[in-house]
Amino acid sequence: MLNSCLFLGALLLLGFGEEAKSVAPKNQIRALFPDNFRWGFATASYQIEGGWDADGKGENIWDRFTHTPGNIADNSTGDVACDSYHNYARDVEMLKDIGADYYRFSLSWSRILPNGTLAVVSEAGIAYYNNLINLLIANNIEPMITLYHWDLPQPLQDIGGWPNEALIPHFENFARLAYQRFGDRVKLWITFNEAFVTCMHGYGYGKHAPGISGEDTEPYKCAHTILKSHARAYRMYYDEFFQAQNGRVGITIDSGWYAPLDPNNPSDVEAAERAVRFKHGWFAWPVFYGHYPDEMRIFVDKKSEEEGLDQSRLPEFDRYWETQVKGSWDFLGLNHYTTELCTYKVGEYSGWSQDQDVGFSRDPTWPESASDWLRSVPWGFGNLLRWIKRNYGNPLVYVTENGWSDSDAVGLEDDLRVEYYTNYTQSMLQAITEDRCDVRSYTAWSLMDNFEWARGYSERFGVHWVNFTDPARPRIPKKSAAFLKQLFADNGYPGPDVNSSAESKHWKILSFTYFILIKFMLG
Ligand code: GAL
Repeated sequence: MLNSCLFLGALLLLGFGEEAKSVAPKNQIRALFPDNFRWGFATASYQIEGGWDADGKGENIWDRFTHTPGNIADNSTGDVACDSYHNYARDVEMLKDIGADYYRFSLSWSRILPNGTLAVVSEAGIAYYNNLINLLIANNIEPMITLYHWDLPQPLQDIGGWPNEALIPHFENFARLAYQRFGDRVKLWITFNEAFVTCMHGYGYGKHAPGISGEDTEPYKCAHTILKSHARAYRMYYDEFFQAQNGRVGITIDSGWYAPLDPNNPSDVEAAERAVRFKHGWFAWPVFYGHYPDEMRIFVDKKSEEEGLDQSRLPEFDRYWETQVKGSWDFLGLNHYTTELCTYKVGEYSGWSQDQDVGFSRDPTWPESASDWLRSVPWGFGNLLRWIKRNYGNPLVYVTENGWSDSDAVGLEDDLRVEYYTNYTQSMLQAITEDRCDVRSYTAWSLMDNFEWARGYSERFGVHWVNFTDPARPRIPKKSAAFLKQLFADNGYPGPDVNSSAESKHWKILSFTYFILIKFMLG
């Protein structure tokens, strides 16, 4: 009798083992996203369109920057890129095939206004976006437009670019024209993509167009102009268009997660908190509260004073602008990619990166991508979402970018990208289901490989592989495209909870075996 019990137990245990092998890793949550959760892809005009001077398009700062030798890693340009200017119908087909609910793309300002101003309006440029929008809608894919994704018309740079507040009315005019011409069909508007990168990389480090190195003051001025421009575009929509169009306007702010190097060291903990406020808070704090975060105010004011300046390098919003900027959001767009570790470190020179007194590093065990700044640290995503919930009163969040880069050599079998998307969407799922973060959509970066700014074509972020040496720019789905297609269709990770069902089965086997044993012993 005992032998047959043991045999039965062993059989059951074997069966149990088989099932455990066939299901997802133990720490995966098996759950769905909320019913109204939406999935999409993002791209940006300069990175995919090409047609850099087609049909009267004007020159922008990225045209100028890439046409100047030495600025781009592989000396490439976005002159042709994915040639989406001529191939947008194929892009829509790919979106349809994967089952995207929406498509986030940006408008090339100089394609619509070749000089950056209303002096000349290009109907050809407007027609291009109308065709794209109409085709998306015909395929049941909602357009989500970013007004500004880094490609400023060159004539507006020639008057000083974003550090000059003279740009505010120009941006307002451009935004108005976009609402007028596309707003009958487009209901989701993002004013600016990652103003941090525009300001720091473009006007601080000089690594992006327009290539200006002026870290001490220019990025702060740039951010100030952009926040005011955003507020004008937001308010103007409500004054002039909302009643007829009933759309939503927000801004996309990028941020990593910043974790203390030593969680038991209070100054590291403070440094990490300061880093999130300097990064995400620089733009989001004004949008939610009408002023820069207190930590920024205290640190930059103090340093400016020590430098003998009679004014802080960090500007202030006056009463008027405070009320314009404060509350200028219907949703918060969030771009998130990675995490860094923080420790207290006194800044060595003046400028945003040093003003915060934080030293940054990465854990060498975190998986590396093809981009030196990007490591896979999925738990950081959930932590950032919870931080946003705590600090801004659980705002409605659209994740407007998240993604992974690899090199040419990887090709179509992009397993690390699949792993990244799995782990990051799992972390987001946990923040939504367990911590009730109000995240309503997720946008993968990117629909296809494209021109990766200063890195040219040397880093690939797409779920479609693009052959940049073939004039037809063919696109081929990678493994990650199939993965996201399934994820979108399932709206999450269906199935019974792996851990609990496995555990309960384990308990059933044990109790059954004990029952038989006791019965046998009692005779
Ligand atoms: C974001 C940016 C995108 C894309 C991505 C990957 O910062 O908005 O344009 O380049 O990073 O680096």
